[in-house]
Amino acid sequence: MFRLAVLASGRGSNLQAIINKLHLSKNNIKISCVISNKKMAIALEIAKNYEIPFYLIDENRYNNDEYEEMLIKTINSHDIDLIVLAGYLKILSAKFVNTFKDSIINIHPSLLPAFPGLDAQKQAINYGVKISGCTVHYVNKKVDTGPIIKQKAVKVEDKDDEASLSKKILKYEHQLLPEAIELIAQGKIKLNKDRTVTIKE
Ligand code: GRF
Repeated sequence: MFRLAVLASGRGSNLQAIINKLHLSKNNIKISCVISNKKMAIALEIAKNYEIPFYLIDENRYNNDEYEEMLIKTINSHDIDLIVLAGYLKILSAKFVNTFKDSIINIHPSLLPAFPGLDAQKQAINYGVKISGCTVHYVNKKVDTGPIIKQKAVKVEDKDDEASLSKKILKYEHQLLPEAIELIAQGKIKLNKDRTVTIKE
């Protein structure tokens, strides 16, 4: 069994896509736990509905060291193979990233290295790019800079605004993230020393 921990802070639509495409289908990939830093995260409700163990580690109640200690303990209690950041709005420390070296991935709503950080779709609209998209990448010590696993391009039309572009990109996120997880679980992703990623299809 290939076990996932999904970390999510909000709406949880990417979590739902992983549930639909991987967790509920006949393969050896299962979500072992869902963890959120935000009390109001809908992602926790989604996990509950599917009887997936879920944990709230409220970021307002702990300092960052305490928070991450609890996070590490929770993840370790589930014997996890891969940590998936799916709309997880908290920066992880270098210590955390080292603890789970090359075992954390993130989905970002732009074609990295363009538009890292918050409001990526708004950044893309404001810049006037004609193509944007989404990226699944390994997480390293700096935000949105880790080795790129997979990307999907989305055309930006003149009539697009932040909301319509976000909607278009999200549709592809829901395909890309489960695809990348499946490839990792099947051992088809090779992270090279020069930080490039090779996919053995
Ligand atoms: C997605 O756009 C993801 O790329 C970004 O945050 C958003 C989360 O959406 N990191 P959801 O919570 O999965 O619906």
